[in-house]
Amino acid sequence: MSPTGLRCAHLVNPLAVAPDRVQLSWLPGGRQDGYQVQVFHNERWFPAPETLHWDTGLVGSVYSADIPYDGPALARGGRYTWRVRIRDSTGSISDWSDPATFEVELDPIGGWQGSWIGLDGVRANVTPPTGAGPADPVATALSPAPYLRRAFTVDKPVVSGRLYVTALGLYEARLNGRRIGDACLTPGWTDYNQRVLYQAYDVTELLRVGENVLGAILADGWYAGFVGFDAKRAGAHYGTAPELLAQLAITFADGDEQRVVTDQHWQAAAAAIRHADLLMGSRTDLRLEPQGWDSPGFLVTDGWRPVRCRGRSASVLLVADPGPPIRVTEETRPAGISRLAGGGWIVDFGQNLPGWVRLRADGPDGTVVRVRHGEVLDADGGLYTENLRTARQTDEYVLPGGPAVLEPRFTQHGFRYAEITGYPGDLDPADVVALVVHSDIPVAGSFDCSDSWLDQLFRIIDWGQRGNFISVPTDCPQRDERMGWLGDAQIFARTACYNRDVAAFFAKWLDDVADAQLESGAFTDVAPRLTLRGPGAPAWGDAGVIVPWTMWKMYGDTGLVRRHFGAMTRWMDFIERANPDYLRSRELGNSYNDWLMPGADDTPHELLATAYWAYDAALMAEMASAIGRTDDAAGYRALRAKIASGFTDTFVAPDGRILSGTQTAYALGLFMDLVPAELRAAAASHLVTAIRAADWHLTTGFVGVGYLLPVLSSCGYSDVAWRLLTQRSFPSWRYMADHGATTIWERWDGWTPGDGFQSPLMNSFNHYALGSVGEWLYRYVLGIDQEDGSAGFARLLLRPHPGGSLSWARGSYRSVRGVIRAGWSVAGNRFTFQVEVPPNVTASVSVPSGNAAEVRDAAGNAPALVASFPGEPGVQEAVFHVGAGVHEFSGPAMTASGHFP
Ligand code: BGC
Repeated sequence: MSPTGLRCAHLVNPLAVAPDRVQLSWLPGGRQDGYQVQVFHNERWFPAPETLHWDTGLVGSVYSADIPYDGPALARGGRYTWRVRIRDSTGSISDWSDPATFEVELDPIGGWQGSWIGLDGVRANVTPPTGAGPADPVATALSPAPYLRRAFTVDKPVVSGRLYVTALGLYEARLNGRRIGDACLTPGWTDYNQRVLYQAYDVTELLRVGENVLGAILADGWYAGFVGFDAKRAGAHYGTAPELLAQLAITFADGDEQRVVTDQHWQAAAAAIRHADLLMGSRTDLRLEPQGWDSPGFLVTDGWRPVRCRGRSASVLLVADPGPPIRVTEETRPAGISRLAGGGWIVDFGQNLPGWVRLRADGPDGTVVRVRHGEVLDADGGLYTENLRTARQTDEYVLPGGPAVLEPRFTQHGFRYAEITGYPGDLDPADVVALVVHSDIPVAGSFDCSDSWLDQLFRIIDWGQRGNFISVPTDCPQRDERMGWLGDAQIFARTACYNRDVAAFFAKWLDDVADAQLESGAFTDVAPRLTLRGPGAPAWGDAGVIVPWTMWKMYGDTGLVRRHFGAMTRWMDFIERANPDYLRSRELGNSYNDWLMPGADDTPHELLATAYWAYDAALMAEMASAIGRTDDAAGYRALRAKIASGFTDTFVAPDGRILSGTQTAYALGLFMDLVPAELRAAAASHLVTAIRAADWHLTTGFVGVGYLLPVLSSCGYSDVAWRLLTQRSFPSWRYMADHGATTIWERWDGWTPGDGFQSPLMNSFNHYALGSVGEWLYRYVLGIDQEDGSAGFARLLLRPHPGGSLSWARGSYRSVRGVIRAGWSVAGNRFTFQVEVPPNVTASVSVPSGNAAEVRDAAGNAPALVASFPGEPGVQEAVFHVGAGVHEFSGPAMTASGHFP
């Protein structure tokens, strides 16, 4: 068996990767005791020895993920082919894997030859950020999308064509009448003043001998359009008009090269797209589409003028996009269509989703069709848009006469319902479809159980992730905000990893987090940094440490830890400088505390802040030792001890009560290990008392919610965790679902029977943060977890916590080492647990039981260990130590009901 699943920098055969991001991964397929990687620099002669660039030789190692490239320098723009083989424990060597490739990014400054080009005057009437605007600042801030073209001749057959392209704004690149690639909203969002991402495409097949035309359409995007809630800026956060930068590198059979770059030889025109904005929507006048503009033979008319050129600044890095592309990932047909009294239709897609609507229409020349998008309907069945604040989410089309396909570009909406007006004739359901658009991140996890409500919760959480992972992890995809909030991201990060393979996505965003870091060392509230310019609040800024740690924990990726260690250290120093007494009470930024908790904000702000600081220090110590910085690790352990004792002295009473008595205070104190060991049990029982006092409801906001169920389970109160998870009345997850949620709401009380919708000033129905409970489904319900100190699922801890009304649950997680499966069932008085452990991984399997000594594996073997189940009085666990393969265990259930007492 030879290795499969070869990836470089978490991507399959990337066409541009930074040399310091070249890390190689594969799935060994069987037991790996050693590996050999070979990298060749000439694909044509692969695997000729003369082209061998790097050979690791046989390395004794079980690692198969994120092996850093450590050979001779890689050529900028170079193409490399690599392969790997493994040695198993018997010493036999596998066949070589199929080859994989990677290409190296251009030099971020010197590798580019062209200039930024754009259409002059296109945004002449933009509202100046601080100036007095006319009546509708939105309308005047919108401008037509420039179309740009360049004809060029190719004299001889091409062996390879690469297009490197980016925009300040958004681009869609075209060659000889065809769209290049299938990514949308490229190049993605970064702080364009510091770093601009570009994409690389293989365009060999699109080039031809003779005349060729390279084209692009540009739009404002995050660069020059609306994003966030700072209405004063009326768009234009980074610049006022979009610009293109492209470099087409053509290689011929004889080794000659030809380059086509963005320069004064291009022409531009405004055309069919009258405006296109991420928040506001778009207007397309299909009569103005210049047919054939991006193909050879097009007759250039008067509207086309020479482009405006601007030199590149040496201080802005042009870097290959390390993340996954945004794509259309699914098409959703209407679940229902209803007619509006005043004319028009409401289309229900049955799912709150990110993306847009595509229609087919046939009507007279000049007919205007309008599509508005919203998440919910009002009491009269009309589209409810108040909660979008100033975002308009409206696409308009002027029909050309005759059949037409209506689909917006360069915009994105968060919606379940679309209101369509002006549509000619009857709306046939077959003529309308919603396109789901987000960062195309592969699925990693699955979950299935005997209670349909939990399956529903699982889906809602994943849809919230899809709805918001769009170049950056946004808070919400619909209103005038859509920013990369750090607090939301850190609390959800582990759930995000279990659901989908976010390694590349977060690798990209962590550069945004680093770019946003302030001079003082403070991480910020949002990244890319926009509008909010101060230090990040506790639990928000701390994401700068927690997210890299989560990536290391889940993927075993130490490259990311090394890359950000300096930035993380500066953040730790920033907090310590401000708080020499080891209580974090200063430099709390906007201190959102336990944001959007139901009821009063009673958790002391410095309690939450200090708990997070201690947590940061603990994670820093773990990361430091993972990368061999033992002195730093010791330093952070010592720091943590000081903060922890400050925390205990200030907030923990001798009877285990934690100041304020909020559920969040207990969840933080216990999760972050700030309660002395002898008081843990008492503190946990106070937490349960607080939950009982709330009549078995949670009272946690964005922050506390992430730790509540894990803490309950680890302290022996899984029954209480289950009770919260299945609670139907407000506030609870199930309350949302019972009231129509198809994605996680921003607020527990987004809608209540008494008050209807919460204040439209802040009421999103697609905010993933409260979905951080997803982690509990994987780690506790299924029991797919790791031993302490393990990273990248090297040492599994498979310990399910059956409960609720479940008679079975099963699921999987595709780890960097292969697929892990776990499934359990209770039938009669027997509990059965089946697991699959990938190669090169060991697992400690814990089977909960009322009589653990009687639990057996499929071969009839007794457990290696019988112990009391952590924290659960009266319950035992039978522990087995297993290696790769499928294993089944069965024994007496832990109670008559099969659940925790
Ligand atoms: C965002 C949140 C964010 C919060 C900070 C809100 O406007 O939507 O998701 O974390 O502000 O308190």
